[in-house]
Amino acid sequence: MGLKSILVPLLLLSAASAQLSGTVGPTSSLESKQSTICNVLDYGGSVGSSDIGPAIASAFTNCVLKNSGSTLYVPEGDYDMQTWVTLSGGTKWAFRLDGLISRAATTTGNMIAIEDADDFEFYSANSAGGIQGYGYECRNAGPRLVRIITSTNWSIHDLILVDSPEFHLVIQEGSNGEVYNMAIRGTNLGGSDGIDVWGTNYWIHDVEVTNRDECVTVKSPASNIQVERIWCNQSGGSAIGSLSDGTAIENVLYRYVYTNGGNQAFMIKSNLGSGYVRNVVFDNFISRGTAYGLDINQYWSSQTPGSGDGVQLSNITFSNWDGNVVDGVARPPIQLICADGAPCYDITLTNVYMWSETDEAIVKCESAYGSGVSCIKSGSTHTSYAVVTSTVTKPSGYTTPTTMSGDLSTGFATDAAIPTPTIPTSFFPGLAQISPLAKNL
Ligand SMILES: *[C@@H]1O[C@H](CO)[C@@H](O)[C@H](O)[C@H]1NC(C)=O
Ligand SMILES: *[C@@H]1O[C@H](CO)[C@@H](O)[C@H](O)[C@H]1NC(C)=O
Ligand SMILES: *[C@@H]1O[C@H](CO)[C@@H](O)[C@H](O)[C@H]1NC(C)=O
Repeated sequence: MGLKSILVPLLLLSAASAQLSGTVGPTSSLESKQSTICNVLDYGGSVGSSDIGPAIASAFTNCVLKNSGSTLYVPEGDYDMQTWVTLSGGTKWAFRLDGLISRAATTTGNMIAIEDADDFEFYSANSAGGIQGYGYECRNAGPRLVRIITSTNWSIHDLILVDSPEFHLVIQEGSNGEVYNMAIRGTNLGGSDGIDVWGTNYWIHDVEVTNRDECVTVKSPASNIQVERIWCNQSGGSAIGSLSDGTAIENVLYRYVYTNGGNQAFMIKSNLGSGYVRNVVFDNFISRGTAYGLDINQYWSSQTPGSGDGVQLSNITFSNWDGNVVDGVARPPIQLICADGAPCYDITLTNVYMWSETDEAIVKCESAYGSGVSCIKSGSTHTSYAVVTSTVTKPSGYTTPTTMSGDLSTGFATDAAIPTPTIPTSFFPGLAQISPLAKNL
């Protein structure tokens, strides 16, 4: 093992300790997964293939599953894919995707699903591999690009996901995963989610999402999720939600989240329902020109109402925010609309400097208890109260939010192919990525 590959994991572990419950990522090194290379070109595939799916499935079944410590390899080059694959049950393996796979069928489902993997790494060594979804051809009527299901001790990194007909990356249950150094570029429409995650002990960092729906969003049930150094480039913004009955989310940390344009800096969204969201920290956010800013909305009309009286939100801290919304009177830079049937409490805002491009703003609270914004109530008894709207002046700590070079001013077209981006090396103003791109190792 080279010095770099010894040092990098050590640095990662110490940087990751804040909200995770243990180590994340594959338990054995990439080197130890190279005793057998399962190259799709040896399993019926060819560069320029019109359907690389069967070769991927064959390399997995006939090579990966038969050789512990193996790598499924798709070499550099362009491939079309018409047959989706579910790669189920591999242990101690890697999927090295250096080529670019383009969607060439409209079957729904997931182009690549990884299921019940353990000690697994999905990556491109040239930091240029990935999937082009050509979603404009079958908007919301085609596959998702990648789904990782009930897998443990895994990572996905250095991949580019472009224009999915539906969501780009879904992480469904499982534990101990790491997602990093990803560029996700979708269309300027709803239904183009970047990353949706639920499960336990996940570290998601250094990710850029361009789209018009979820940037990096935590769903229920989830615990010990740490999301950091996220660049939402004209995206819908990040969220926890949407939530309904039986919600169970705790120990979540988002920090260093930069959002340029789109719907919100951050939103917790539900509509009635039951269960809880607790012990959550949102630290170091920068947002520019979003529609909403810091937004809790427990009467979110796009979510079908649950049967309970409301998801209980408690112990939620927002600290060190700097941001502006487009029109702070039409849509408040801060609103805390909690459920009357489950008033939220221990909601703390510290150094949250949110303002408006129009230089005037209101804030709104309903059934919310805590501190740090004029409309919130304090006290240890938490009874419901009707919405309170206050006009606010510019916070003294507010400065016009920093920009990042490479920001978009409009989203990508909905009716034409979207160009494949490269993966950036910084995802938050002034911060380098945590681990270098694979191509630079
Ligand atoms: C995942 O790794 C941990 C050690 O980090 C280990 O205890 C656990 O058994 C692994 N999971 C599986 C399913 O092997
Ligand atoms: C509030 O949440 C933070 C962050 O998860 C945690 O460290 C703290 O212990 C929680 N406080 C209580 C009273 O649970
Ligand atoms: C973000 O926007 C910039 C400017 O157009 C672009 O260069 C960059 O590739 C975008 N990022 C992604 C992931 O689309």
